[in-house]
Amino acid sequence: MAGAWKTSTWSRSDVAVNLICWADMNRDTRDEPAIEFRDVSYELPSGQRVLSNLNLQVQRGETLVVLGRSGSGKTTTLKLINRLLRPTGGEVRVNGAGTGQRDVIRLRRGIGYVIQEIGLLPHFTVERNIGIVPSIDGWPLDKIRARTQELMQMVGLESQLAPRYPHQLSGGQRQRVGVARALAADPAILLMDEPFGALDPLTRDDLQREFLSLQQRLHKTVVFVTHDLNEALRLASRVALMEAGELITVLSPQEFLRSTDPLAAAYVRAFRAGTGLDTNRGSS
Ligand SMILES: Nc1ncnc2c1ncn2[C@@H]1O[C@H](COP(=O)(O)OP(=O)(O)O)[C@@H](O)[C@H]1O
Ligand SMILES: [Mg+2]
Repeated sequence: MAGAWKTSTWSRSDVAVNLICWADMNRDTRDEPAIEFRDVSYELPSGQRVLSNLNLQVQRGETLVVLGRSGSGKTTTLKLINRLLRPTGGEVRVNGAGTGQRDVIRLRRGIGYVIQEIGLLPHFTVERNIGIVPSIDGWPLDKIRARTQELMQMVGLESQLAPRYPHQLSGGQRQRVGVARALAADPAILLMDEPFGALDPLTRDDLQREFLSLQQRLHKTVVFVTHDLNEALRLASRVALMEAGELITVLSPQEFLRSTDPLAAAYVRAFRAGTGLDTNRGSS
């Protein structure tokens, strides 16, 4: 409030801009879902339907895991949130407003995006990769450096890795850089597209554990895509199950394990078979 009173010495246009931003930031959005899909469809120019009538709410501070096989529409769903794609039907809302009406740069400032493998600039050092968004936003160099160091520590990267290039890192370290970069400008929303999919099982386990501890501290709204039920059950507050461009069901991990939905049950059977808990023919 106090900030609004200080505008009396500003020019008229400064006041207008300030009040618009102030109104935008202070609108009471706590009770609204952070992200909402209202009857969203997405068709390719060829007419092929990729997503059909998607209705989904993501609550503030939750980790919603989108689970589905390859080609089920998971990546398309994520890209509709940060407007890398626009729905051909229905509406995607972020913080209570349709993404179509928003300034796209400003929308994306509030949404970190982590993708598998690629995504780091190969000719930029770790430090520059992590600092890309603050640097575009014109932060002073010392502030970028301090933030980069803080983020590297947060995601478990030793500070002496700062001058290295992506090809001089392990797969796990590269993914940590990707996560640090997505967090750089402290976005409230994080989109993660199979971020640990290409890692060996032990590194993947490390990163999942660290993701959980990071999320306990940061309380971001996270939409996390995977095809791996084990990962989904471990990280999710709720699991959204997709198949052939449709949302089949949204369940808590406990509900998922007990679900009688045929597709959910098929995932659970495959998961149990994979762990050898139900049958283990190899050991007989
Ligand atoms: N630009 C595109 N051109 C052709 N097909 C596409 C395009 N984008 C998505 N698709 C198709 O849409 C479906 C869903 O894709 P995607 O969202 O990437 O699935 P997922 O991430 O679950 O693997 C797939 O069948 C994919 O081949
Ligand atoms: Mg995908």
